[in-house]
Amino acid sequence: MRRVIAIDGPAASGKSSTAAAVARAIGAHHLDSGALYRGLTRVALDLNSLDPSSIAAEAARRKLGLDHDGREIVPFLDGRPAESVIRTSEVTAAVSAVAAIGPLRDWVNDRLRAAASDDWVLVLDGRDIGTVVFPEAVLKVFLTATPEARARRRLAQRGEDSNERMLALETERLAARDALDAGRAVAPLRQAPEAVLVDTTSLGFQDQVARIVALARKALS
Ligand code: CDP
Repeated sequence: MRRVIAIDGPAASGKSSTAAAVARAIGAHHLDSGALYRGLTRVALDLNSLDPSSIAAEAARRKLGLDHDGREIVPFLDGRPAESVIRTSEVTAAVSAVAAIGPLRDWVNDRLRAAASDDWVLVLDGRDIGTVVFPEAVLKVFLTATPEARARRRLAQRGEDSNERMLALETERLAARDALDAGRAVAPLRQAPEAVLVDTTSLGFQDQVARIVALARKALS
């Protein structure tokens, strides 16, 4: 039986790296739903169109999807691992608009559901995994941190200076994306009532992973 651990939360709360580490620790597979929204956004930008049918057709032609790279499951586009082309600032600025388009959300959800074999344990991260995509998840975590802590981490991750001006700008960008993600009509970002809130503002990475691994082991036992 397929069992799912859902990790949702706002932008740059560390969901993806945490979900990958949790999956490694418990021998599960990790799927990053945001990577598919970013991939669709790359395709939309290249097409210069927000028409869902054209984007979906082009995504199929360019073979956008999640696949094994020999080590883990990662986004692929044009037959190659796609991380470097989906994490650009151009994609980040446009992704929330693409992710608000209902038919494209269905496209992503179909792929997430199809990517998993029936007997896998899956750790998925996103905005609506516990609320919409896998409401039957055995564990739901809502991972968050203050906007400033998230902005600091995002700048560090990109190897950029975190002077006051850069920090204020990044905090603003994250807040704008969160507002779009939480305010959209379809599958908005929100905490499921039964989700465990993990605030990582003053937790180190290893601590947050350990806390979720403990919750996951308990939920799977
Ligand atoms: O890693 P980061 O927090 O920057 O975001 P991400 O997980 O890569 O997701 C990028 C964008 O995709 C989000 O801002 C959402 O607009 C959208 N997304 C979504 O709508 N639903 C999901 N399950 C995952 C991502």
